[in-house]
Amino acid sequence: MKLYHLRIILSVCFVLASTISQSHAAPVNLATNVSKAILESECSLLVIAHRGASGYVPEHTLAAYSLAVFMGADYIEPDLVMTKDGFLVARHDNELGLTTDVSQRPEFADRHRTQSVDGVDYTGWFTEDFTLAELKSLRAIERIPNLRPGNARMDRSLEIPTFQEIIDLAKSLEVSQRRTIGIYPEIKHSTHFKTIGLAMEAAVVDTLHRNGYQGVDAPVYIQSFEVNNLKELKQLTNLRLLQLYGSNPARQPFDQFVQGTALTYGDMATPEGLREVATYAYAAGPDKSYVIPLNEEGKLGQPTEFVAHAHEAGLKVHPYTFRAENSFLPAEFRSDSADEHARGDLAGEIKAFLDAGVDGLFADQPDVAVHVKHARSCH
Ligand code: G3P
Ligand code: CA
Repeated sequence: MKLYHLRIILSVCFVLASTISQSHAAPVNLATNVSKAILESECSLLVIAHRGASGYVPEHTLAAYSLAVFMGADYIEPDLVMTKDGFLVARHDNELGLTTDVSQRPEFADRHRTQSVDGVDYTGWFTEDFTLAELKSLRAIERIPNLRPGNARMDRSLEIPTFQEIIDLAKSLEVSQRRTIGIYPEIKHSTHFKTIGLAMEAAVVDTLHRNGYQGVDAPVYIQSFEVNNLKELKQLTNLRLLQLYGSNPARQPFDQFVQGTALTYGDMATPEGLREVATYAYAAGPDKSYVIPLNEEGKLGQPTEFVAHAHEAGLKVHPYTFRAENSFLPAEFRSDSADEHARGDLAGEIKAFLDAGVDGLFADQPDVAVHVKHARSCH
């Protein structure tokens, strides 16, 4: 990416961050020098910008990550997939139709196909059929334009970033923001990419090590919904690992299904299962419902013992995903507006999860989480 492009993106993000921040009461000193030690202190809520500040800017773009940093997020979260020529790029899915303009690019029409990914048939265009140069010619579009029409106004203005570009961005912004900025990559579709000869694990570790991220004190977590690849990563690196839990406890991590074990996410959420996870992972990343399930009215119910059991096993708990739009919120936190895309009281939901003892969380609107954290005098 050219330097002047980066300058334009950063300028836009700074204006956006300033505008959005004015709508919140609690002031935030964005230039505070927050050390790693403080980030991890007991009175700490790790704010992880889910796919960047994806509530405001199309997900997994440098603009989304930049805005998240300006909003005070501690970590930025790239989901990673691989290109045909072995480059790690940030996309939530290897299928490109939902988040890029590939469907409007006739030169790529012949790449359209159907394949099974993680046991589900998908029809579209896939990252593993594109070189990095080809992917760089695409532009990002908003995944959920009906819910995020403001984001959709930025359609076709932003590139797909590589993992290296995201690291470069974080390191640049560490200098200007004078604070540590963590990186929280997720390896997507691990088994699928291994099967087609594009395994990502060593490439992710090599990239991080090459950029100076080494050991448990580095501001990095590597996450996955699968199990065996995290155990493999444990042999490759001392960087911290997080085990993700799918929203349905009855489902299996895809590698476990392929391997023919009986292990489900529900099994991994029991005290014994959490102790096993703690043998290879530093933290657990459950869907929110493992921590506080919804009741019959669609409101938050009683907190479970997941957090207590995870903490007893020695695991930190970073649930996902906190989103401000009505359609994603528990009923009691929705705004009076009938619009699904209207924003409700995300801060209220986050406070309930803080009270339940979580150590961090993934948020599409990281500014809201940052304000809650500061209002509670946490770091
Ligand atoms: O990685 C935490 C959360 O992002 C998992 O869900 O599907 O948004 O990657 P997903
Ligand atoms: Ca993710």
